[in-house]
Amino acid sequence: MSTTVQKGKFITIEGIEGVGKSSNVNLIADLIQKAGNQVVVTREPGGTPIAEAIRKVLLAEYDEEIFGQTELLLLYAARIQHVEHVIKPALAEGKWVVCDRFVDATYAYQGAGRGIPIEKIDSLHQWALGDFVPDCTIILDASPEIAFERIKKNRDLDRFEKEKIFFFQRIRQQYLQIAGRDKQRYRIVDASRPLKDVQDIIRGIIVNIF
Ligand SMILES: Nc1ncnc2c1ncn2[C@@H]1O[C@H](COP(=O)(O)OP(=O)(O)OP(=O)(O)O)[C@@H](O)[C@H]1O
Ligand SMILES: [Mg+2]
Repeated sequence: MSTTVQKGKFITIEGIEGVGKSSNVNLIADLIQKAGNQVVVTREPGGTPIAEAIRKVLLAEYDEEIFGQTELLLLYAARIQHVEHVIKPALAEGKWVVCDRFVDATYAYQGAGRGIPIEKIDSLHQWALGDFVPDCTIILDASPEIAFERIKKNRDLDRFEKEKIFFFQRIRQQYLQIAGRDKQRYRIVDASRPLKDVQDIIRGIIVNIF
């Protein structure tokens, strides 16, 4: 009798800074593990040595303007390394993968945020990764005002976060709009609620995937 490895699922968590992505990634991983699956937890930009080096470039402050196209290409350079070296091999072994930010962050930040046309990102994605997208994307939704209050309690803001609040309002709206395009793949969670409530909602979403 042959045993078949159950195919792992690729889950991403998205939302503006401080909304609670990192706080919920381990909860998702625990649920998957408790159901008897192996899980890989990772993040973008990053996840491999080259991709983490690119992350440092993206988050550092230089005395030089960075263009939206430069950001986009650096992000995709990192993403290709990450997908080909980490995510696809894990899925091929039947593991689940949970990733803190992925392609939707690019549509939100470089698309709505920096004004790069969505079709340009679509064609770059198609060239770089074909039709590879997550099985499920959880979008944590809260206002930038709420999210930034949370961040400021812990640390200084980075280059992206110093952008004006209205930049993050556009990002938030873009995430909601993207989610509307594919109700099957996206789940929007009200992240302005207390962490315990957010975790309960996420638990429900993950249990439903099993
Ligand atoms: N639902 C919540 N209610 C109150 N505080 C929260 C909630 N979720 C997370 N926090 C707190 O908000 C802060 C930011 O959370 P977290 O680091 O998980 O956000 P993030 O989305 O990963 O941010 P970043 O994009 O900067 O990585 C943390 O101090 C965390 O404890
Ligand atoms: Mg985080």
